Amino acid sequence: MSAEMILVLHGPNLNLLGEREPHIYGSMTLEKIDRALKKEGEELGFAVQCFQSNHEGELIDRIQEAAKTCVGILINPAALSHYSYALRDALSAAGLPLVEVHLSNVFARESFRHHSVITPVAEGMICGLGPESYFLGLNALAKILKKRQV
Ligand code: DQA
Repeated sequence: MSAEMILVLHGPNLNLLGEREPHIYGSMTLEKIDRALKKEGEELGFAVQCFQSNHEGELIDRIQEAAKTCVGILINPAALSHYSYALRDALSAAGLPLVEVHLSNVFARESFRHHSVITPVAEGMICGLGPESYFLGLNALAKILKKRQV
């Protein structure tokens, strides 16, 4: 039997990780993060699919697809966190366990970053730990999914 699938989504500008404001977002590239998440996923017993887009609609299309093919979603919605009701509605409609992550500590930054419209439809949110936010988020999601299986 093939492993159940977790979708990892990265929002706008996260393709620039490594070169984008490294004092805020660190030096690890998105490619490296994705590779490590796939490996970590395998160890947790899940197949991990990663997708980044700078376009809200592409992320929404991917979420609608995931509703039929995946068992959970890990997302860094990037700036869309702060205002995208369309992304929130798509995640809510998908009805899959959802964990939100941010590399930076959004609460220690500009006030517009203090609010996420995504968090209310997520199981939880992890921020401020750099790439570790993603790895902790993936582990938390795997735990939630395993608990639901029993
Ligand atoms: C971010 C925080 C957001 O406020 C910002 O717009 C991003 C990245 C983070 O991972 O820290 O693009 O989601």
